[in-house]
Parts: sequence; structure tokens; C-alpha cells
Amino acid sequence: MTQTLDPRHISFLLAGPDRAAEIAALHAKLFNPAWDEAAVLALLDHPAAASYIALTGNPKLTVGFVMSQIAGDEAEILSIGVLPAVQRHGAGRAIMEALIRSLKRAEITRLFLDVAADNEAANALYAKLGFKEIGRRKGYYQRAGGPAQDAVNLALEI
Ligand SMILES: CC(C)(COP(=O)(O)OP(=O)(O)OC[C@H]1O[C@@H](n2cnc3c(N)ncnc32)[C@H](O)[C@@H]1OP(=O)(O)O)[C@@H](O)C(=O)NCCC(=O)NCCS
Repeated sequence: MTQTLDPRHISFLLAGPDRAAEIAALHAKLFNPAWDEAAVLALLDHPAAASYIALTGNPKLTVGFVMSQIAGDEAEILSIGVLPAVQRHGAGRAIMEALIRSLKRAEITRLFLDVAADNEAANALYAKLGFKEIGRRKGYYQRAGGPAQDAVNLALEI
């Protein structure tokens, strides 16, 4: 992407099952192992899904996604990511804030997620948004050629 990303010019769309291929393609650039299109489709198609994509530019390019699921008055983030070429320009924060606004309107009071202890970017983003550690699963994430990492359980009152 050659243009500078301005987070004020990001738009958000509710992501339904028709966005599965786009999100799976982004997921594959960000995670190993990645979730395939069928797995993403199953999440987007779930009746309790609350998922968004972030778009910017002209023509519109999908630069980020967040997938979450609601249970009662709580919700859990299942995955979030921003295209590597546009990271660190505010898109991650903007998409999290868009999700939080929409969950608030749906009277959700608590948002949960798990993050690897060594994921500095994600941990910094969640700390900035006010998430607090509520637990840890020791050595949950196996790393090829490196030590296993704890899964840190975070929660945000919204
Ligand atoms: C985590 C992720 C979504 C952040 O997206 P992003 O668009 O780069 O984040 P933002 O630009 O909105 O950053 C918001 C804040 O997060 C923190 N942050 C983001 N990236 C960071 C990095 N690489 N190192 C340190 N802090 C970072 C900063 O505090 C930043 O605020 P600042 O730029 O004003 O200092 C992105 O790095 C990503 O997609 N990572 C790969 C997938 C992933 O790990 N997902 C999370 C799984 S739990």
C-alpha cells in the first residue's frame, strides 16, 4: 500500500459470511497456523457472531478484521488482525473501538480475549484500551524452535 493510512478515513462494515474469503486471506498473512476459509465462515455464520472488517482507500481495500462472539451480556474476541503493510497507523485501535462501541449499544458489559504473553504489539494495544489481566494459562502456545508461551486472559469492562 503506497498511500499513508489515515485512521480517520477507515470505514467499518459488519462482516457476514460473504467476507470469509477476505478475512481468511488476511488471517493467513498474520497467523501460523492460519484459519482456513471454512473455519472463518463457520465463525462469521454463527448466530452470536459480532465481526467487522476495516476498509480504507479508493478503491476500498480490506486492511483489518475483528471476529467476536456474544454470550449473554459478555463477548469474546476470537481473532483480530491488521494487514502488515498498514500496521502501526491506528487501524487496530480503530477497529477495536468500533467493536467496543457496537457491543456497548448491544448492552454487553464485559469483553474477554486471550493473547500470547510474547505478542508485544497486541499486549500494548489491549493495555492502551484498558484491558486487565484476569488469568493465565502456562505454556499454552507451543512455538516451533522456541519456548512455549503463556496465554494471558484479559478482560475489559465496557
Ligand atoms: C496487534 C495488531 C492488531 C495491532 O494493529 P495496529 O493497527 O498495528 O495497531 P495500532 O496502530 O492501532 O496501535 C495502537 C497501539 O498499540 C500499540 N502497538 C501497536 N503495535 C505495536 C508494536 N509493534 N509494538 C509496540 N506497541 C505497539 C501502541 O501502543 C499503539 O499506539 P501508538 O502507535 O500510539 O504507540 C497488529 O499488530 C496485528 O495484526 N498483529 C498480528 C496479529 C495479532 O497478533 N493479533 C492479535 C492476536 S491476540
